[in-house]
Amino acid sequence: MKFPRHLLSIGDLNQESALAVLDTAKELARISDGQIKKLPTLRGRTVVNLFFEDSTRTRISFETAAKRLSADVINFAAKGSSVSKGESLKDTALTLQAMGADAVVIRHHASGAPQRLADAGWIAGPVINAGDGTHEHPTQALLDAFTIRQHLKRDNANLDGLKIAIIGDILHSRVARSNIFLLSMLGASVTVIAPPTLLPVGIESWPCSVSFRLEDSIEEFDAIMTLRIQRERMEEAFFPSEREYSRYYGLNGDRLAQLKDGAIVLHPGPMNRGVEIDAKSADSVRSVIVDQVTNGVFIRMAVLYLLLSGTSINLSEEAKA
Ligand code: CP
Repeated sequence: MKFPRHLLSIGDLNQESALAVLDTAKELARISDGQIKKLPTLRGRTVVNLFFEDSTRTRISFETAAKRLSADVINFAAKGSSVSKGESLKDTALTLQAMGADAVVIRHHASGAPQRLADAGWIAGPVINAGDGTHEHPTQALLDAFTIRQHLKRDNANLDGLKIAIIGDILHSRVARSNIFLLSMLGASVTVIAPPTLLPVGIESWPCSVSFRLEDSIEEFDAIMTLRIQRERMEEAFFPSEREYSRYYGLNGDRLAQLKDGAIVLHPGPMNRGVEIDAKSADSVRSVIVDQVTNGVFIRMAVLYLLLSGTSINLSEEAKA
């Protein structure tokens, strides 16, 4: 299996390479469960985390992942850097390349910024998209697929036959876009549920069904993913009030009770408790939100390894080294 040079969107993967990430992450999780927490795999390599937008989970888990593979890590946050003095993406990238970056993980408010970094050749090594504008967040979708596989007993398999709902602000969500393309590629049937104002133009051509009403079909789904309302990307009102939004699209105790046996609840974080999800749902036994965070480290270890080595991993040998 040949792995792509960069991971900019789910379109860079096919079913074989996506499953390779999930299987490699599973093996890394198994090893991390035992005595060995750190592998020598990327010793001598430098991973740069280039974050132009705020992040808790993604930035910390990429850092943890790189360190568990013994890479050196440089964390760059635009706030407090020379970006605030007007330095361009190009000059920032060239500076980091001059310091010996072997791979760059980038989060940027502009859709397409990771693609620009990869295409322009300012960075010699792989570029990994850690979320760009409203475009994509491929490692989030991979960790979501990993968590669904783990909890719905689809280990070592694709997601054939599973019904998955993604609810809320689809329009502004890079997480929704990456998940729709990945989960459908892995065989799941995906339905997006949102008010018409929070759906992107052209959603009919995406590999998903569309519904405007949560209560119509909530009992059908094996997994429910709720999304945060992305106020920071909204320049106008998309719904009358948070209270009304929550009444029609929020996950609460009543709706939780309607889910079928074994159904799970996901949220990429950060959550707005009381808006798209209430505390009872977020903290319920059905919630796998904390596991999503844990699994993010294994997925990012797998992605860093596969991109920097370009081959599948013999982890048993790595663990002995
Ligand atoms: N899911 C996610 O991207 O979270 P952060 O913004 O905290 O990285």
